[in-house]
Amino acid sequence: MSTAISQTAYNYKVVRQFAIMTVVWGIIGMGMGVFIAAQLVWPELNFDLPWTSFGRLRPLHTNLVVFAFGGCALFATSYYVVQRTSQARIISDSLASFTFWGWQAVLVLAVITLPQGFTSTKEYAELEWPIDILIAIVWVSYALVFFGTIAKRKVKHIYVGNWFFGGFILTVALLHIVNNLEIPVTAFKSYSIYAGATDAMVQWWYGHNAVGFFLTAGFLGMMYYFVPKQAERPIYSYRLSIVHFWALITVYIWAGPHHLHYTALPDWAQSLGMAMSIILLAPSWGGMINGMMTLSGAWHKLRTDPILRFLVVSLAFYGMSTFEGPMMAIKTVNALSHYTDWTIGHVHAGALGWVAMISIGSLYHLIPKVYGRPQMHSIGLINAHFWLATIGTVLYIASMWVNGITQGLMWRAVNEDGTLTYSFVEALEASHPGYIIRFIGGAFFASGMLLMAYNTWRTVRVAKPAEYEAAAQMA
Ligand code: HEM
Ligand code: HEM
Repeated sequence: MSTAISQTAYNYKVVRQFAIMTVVWGIIGMGMGVFIAAQLVWPELNFDLPWTSFGRLRPLHTNLVVFAFGGCALFATSYYVVQRTSQARIISDSLASFTFWGWQAVLVLAVITLPQGFTSTKEYAELEWPIDILIAIVWVSYALVFFGTIAKRKVKHIYVGNWFFGGFILTVALLHIVNNLEIPVTAFKSYSIYAGATDAMVQWWYGHNAVGFFLTAGFLGMMYYFVPKQAERPIYSYRLSIVHFWALITVYIWAGPHHLHYTALPDWAQSLGMAMSIILLAPSWGGMINGMMTLSGAWHKLRTDPILRFLVVSLAFYGMSTFEGPMMAIKTVNALSHYTDWTIGHVHAGALGWVAMISIGSLYHLIPKVYGRPQMHSIGLINAHFWLATIGTVLYIASMWVNGITQGLMWRAVNEDGTLTYSFVEALEASHPGYIIRFIGGAFFASGMLLMAYNTWRTVRVAKPAEYEAAAQMA
């Protein structure tokens, strides 16, 4: 391997590491989702032990699917995209490697501490302060690697996918640091520096933008690279993509108060959150349409290409959840939906339909490329995975819609004398069939991930990445 070639070839090692771990954490995190879904059907599965109780495993599920599965997918794809579109090798191999091992350490610490009950109690920011510090260090290193690579790019302009990845990296750093300002009292207990309604506002400014930037902007970065690549068409409108970027990041940051309707938060803040959420429909759909229209003239490829199907169906779910979200942000609608399974259905329309499906599609495109293989071992298995994922998502969200609306209506029903028509337990009994269907849907989705693991293993088993990399010239 000549020095000249090794210096110009991309660093695919870190991409491979994150890609494989995406599949591994996907199985663990979604497996945990199926388990807690089963606990809601069969409460005996809590085993009367604190560390296997729903209350402790639920945050473990959310951390593993969002930060482990989603996070690894974002690291893998952003490192891949930034190198290829900048035509430059990652600025520092050792710093990139540190982000891989540092991030895995964070995730392992989550697996160890959350079931033991160590938690800051802030949703999606449960990890305690020593782990928060590690996250901040890894994240700053990630920013250095990403923006450093952009800085040494060999092409003049910065591809729009990188704008989305960059926006996601910067904003998540800000969100994480501001929301986790806390005073440690012991090695594993801290208290937030904020109190009361301020604490709630900061938490949901974080929580909503974790959705907007972690679960949306980063994945839009994926969309802008992998949809055109897989469809072999240029993006429908480059101008729209730039408008999409600026509009999305400008509006998202204000929408957090929709999580705090009818609370002690000042009324004007709630109304502002509602208004901004409704406006958010426009940039969200602008982006979705831009992705969809990229398929103009290439729709026939959907018949034969299950990877493209993953990508396009993920956009359809993105459109659906970003229509539903603004609707749920309207105060009168939220009065019905809040606290019910409708929220859970909305979450998973976004999480399974959008986040997981765009990641899976992107990885099926990327894995053979970084292992120097022509394609995945089996296209048939990708197709089977596609159907398991799609049917699983539909079963999940449809059952939660039915449950959510049933619960909302039963809770608010009153008799003529003003007493409640239904007790809470009656609403719970009515929800039971929905929980069984959600469990089945989840099991479908998770078994698709097992097919992906097998397919990936068969693909990489025969690969010789070191030799391939030596030969890889810059595209
Ligand atoms: C225009 C876009 C969107 C808007 C305006 C929006 C709005 C909302 C609203 C109003 C809620 C319910 C708040 C409550 O009653 O407590 C909610 C919950 C949630 N949404 Fe969205 N949503 C959007 C898109 C998405 C997407 C694409 C995802 C996922 C990828 C997502 C993930 C979530 C999560 C995780 C929650 C639950 C938060 C919690 O209570 O723990 N949202 N969203
Ligand atoms: C096999 C697939 C999955 C199953 C069976 C599943 C199941 C569950 C269950 C049972 C809950 C608790 C609901 C409740 O408290 O009533 C939950 C919550 C949650 N899950 Fe999943 N999940 C799956 C995949 C995912 C994925 C891939 C993501 C993200 C990328 C995700 C993100 C979340 C979030 C953010 C919540 C908290 C929602 C809230 O607080 O409003 N899940 N999941």
